[in-house]
Amino acid sequence: MNIDLEGATAIVTGASRGIGLETAASLLESGAGGVTITSRREENLAEAVGHLVDRGLERDRILALVGRADSVDDAGGVVAETIDRFGGCDVLVNNAGTNPSAGPMMDVDLGAVEKTWAVNQLGPLIWTRATWHGWMAQNGGVIVNIASVGGLRPAPFIGAYNISKGALVQLTRQLAHELAPLVRVVGVAPGVVKTRLSAALWENNEDDMAATHPLQRLGTVEDIAAAITFLVSPQASWITGVTLPVDGGVVEAQGSL
Ligand SMILES: NC(=O)c1ccc[n+]([C@@H]2O[C@H](COP(=O)([O-])OP(=O)(O)OC[C@H]3O[C@@H](n4cnc5c(N)ncnc54)[C@H](OP(=O)(O)O)[C@@H]3O)[C@@H](O)[C@H]2O)c1
Repeated sequence: MNIDLEGATAIVTGASRGIGLETAASLLESGAGGVTITSRREENLAEAVGHLVDRGLERDRILALVGRADSVDDAGGVVAETIDRFGGCDVLVNNAGTNPSAGPMMDVDLGAVEKTWAVNQLGPLIWTRATWHGWMAQNGGVIVNIASVGGLRPAPFIGAYNISKGALVQLTRQLAHELAPLVRVVGVAPGVVKTRLSAALWENNEDDMAATHPLQRLGTVEDIAAAITFLVSPQASWITGVTLPVDGGVVEAQGSL
């Protein structure tokens, strides 16, 4: 099976590093005509563009725009600029995520919870609405929400984050119904992947953390980007509403992080 994205255009949020950056690279390497990458910081985006160009990807297929995940104005602006530059917006990957709210739910700081839910839970709805109204309602498309295994079952310390990801799994089901048959909406639920966001989970105990996953290793950004690339491709055209765990088997094994 050869994945060919046939010149499709995409927005990947939170793509200055980690899973988002690798996803942007994978979409471009699979034939996307243009990919917009967003994050909060211009300097991080400039570095990300340098990384993509160093990988041999053409600069004119990449648009880098500052866009906060929880901003309606930023979402509208990024969608409009993407359509202006690439002629469409066929794919949205809601990847930007944050986790400043560690701690048991009875004590965790409510301001931090609000921030986590605004970025992880409200953000994907904001960006989906902008993309739907700007392009997909007329032209169709695919939306991928990056959830987490934490959204599929409880785990200690990161309850507020996990609740936001559980809501994202349900948002994926809900929007798959509301936007069908024109738009597919799918989710990906990673296990622990070695990135900056999850560093507190693995940095000082990588072997122990790997051992909680039946496949005995942590995930890589390439593992997640490959699943996303398949899900947005024409080969996945009969898949909608589901969230696929890409997690070394941890959820099915009922493992706890
Ligand atoms: N790594 C894991 O183990 C794991 C597991 C399950 C799920 N996930 C999910 O995977 C997604 C990507 O995470 P990652 O591990 O790749 O993290 P990462 O390497 O820390 O990257 C996070 C990206 O999001 C951007 N970002 C952060 N807050 C943002 C905001 N408010 N608005 C816009 N962009 C923002 C960051 O860029 P700037 O700093 O430049 O803004 C960065 O590009 C997240 O949704 C995360 O919850 C990760």
